[in-house]
Amino acid sequence: MTNVTKNIKSVKVKAPIVEALRLAYENPTYQFHIPGHTKGNGSLPEFRKLIGAKALSVDTTDEFDNLGTLHPATGPIKEAQELAANAFGAKKTFFLLNGSTAGNLAIGMGLTKKGQRILTNRNCHRSILTGMIISGAEPLWLVPKRFDEWGIWGNVTPESVEEALSTHDDISMVWITNPTYEGVVSDIKSISLICKKYGVPLIVDEAHACLWHFNKHLPTPALQLGADAVVHSLHKTGGSMSQSSMLHIAQDSMIDVDAVEKALKLLHTTSPSLILLASLDAARANLESQKGKKQLERAISNAKYLRREIEKMEHIHDLKPDFGYMTDVTKIFIRADGLSGKRLESILEIEFGIEVESASDAGLLLLSNLGNTRADMQYLVKCLQKIDKSNYSDICYLENKKHMPMLTPIIKMSLREAFYSEKETIPKETAIGRISGEVIAECPPGIAVLLPGELITEEHMPYLADYDFIEVIK
Ligand SMILES: Cc1ncc(COP(=O)(O)O)c(C=O)c1O
Repeated sequence: MTNVTKNIKSVKVKAPIVEALRLAYENPTYQFHIPGHTKGNGSLPEFRKLIGAKALSVDTTDEFDNLGTLHPATGPIKEAQELAANAFGAKKTFFLLNGSTAGNLAIGMGLTKKGQRILTNRNCHRSILTGMIISGAEPLWLVPKRFDEWGIWGNVTPESVEEALSTHDDISMVWITNPTYEGVVSDIKSISLICKKYGVPLIVDEAHACLWHFNKHLPTPALQLGADAVVHSLHKTGGSMSQSSMLHIAQDSMIDVDAVEKALKLLHTTSPSLILLASLDAARANLESQKGKKQLERAISNAKYLRREIEKMEHIHDLKPDFGYMTDVTKIFIRADGLSGKRLESILEIEFGIEVESASDAGLLLLSNLGNTRADMQYLVKCLQKIDKSNYSDICYLENKKHMPMLTPIIKMSLREAFYSEKETIPKETAIGRISGEVIAECPPGIAVLLPGELITEEHMPYLADYDFIEVIK
């Protein structure tokens, strides 16, 4: 048995990019190519010490035979994408190195055209808008219900999709975000049946839900419910490194896969990071392994434990599937009586050293992740119990700002036309009544406060507290 075969046999769940990188590391060569830091020798020593010499020595791109290429997919990268497609039940999977943003841009660029109408939810991520700015397609808004007490958007109802499709015969695609950032789940099965009835493709931005494929106690993923394509930010919850994501094409998808692939090729870097690609490969392999399955079971059981403990508290509440929709149990959105979400976030951070996923006016979002231990959760519970029994008060300057955009846009110009129009930058206060020339969307959650072409009104002002100037159409 050769060393190579031995090495490959020692990996339990196949991870071809991880394996190829390991072999490259173990068989070093003299390098006269990019990246110019040459295994970290040309890096700042403090940086090398911080992230480790080994990490820098495997920092390479896809130009070398044994590692394969991303566009077109060859070698271990091709194999890893096929293994991922298999794990997620897709016909084809593309690895993305600019997050799910890259997937949404490619869908916009590859599948939509100038003047077409795309039915999408108002609380979509800004990358969906950017995809339409590139192509010149126009959003037709589905405005979900707002749950004011929680300051969140609700689910997209099948009825609202049916109504839009039956009254507008120029809708060429339905593009739904599911779940919402706070974990509210829409009925994708019914929405997909409606899309099929009207013969339009359904794209689901499932950026926050790649884990649904790996545990039956989580909601059913859109690829199993009739969606044509789905994006997943593996880096958000799936365990890969930041900015690495996947775009899946469903088995019986009606979309033009070549058009998406061509767009991806144009949008992607020509120097893809092998470390990031390997991290996608590793995340998929981990989720399929016994260990990964246990980690996910633990994440779910930790989430249930946290929710049970919150139930016993007097002033802290968690969002439950109360309003006729389901929720993802691992996304725990909480609020505290008398405190804004931002104030609760700052108490947790400053007094207890806890960092949350995000906070808004009403509440904050905690994620029960693959990597969290029960001890982490117990500490969090103890801190929340202390806050529940204390008399913390709100801070006024935090109250004057709004964070989760909950507005219905008044559109005056097409997205693309506004984006490319002549613009001027003016003080925010003088912008009321003018037309926005830019996307303003704080991340997280990346939901637009203002879009190009939208009328700026008094209502926008509390969301723009951090801006002195904004760009408007001249
Ligand atoms: C719903 C949704 N879609 C897409 C994205 C973009 O994902 P990424 O950060 O992986 O580019 C985000 C990011 O927050 C998101 O919330």
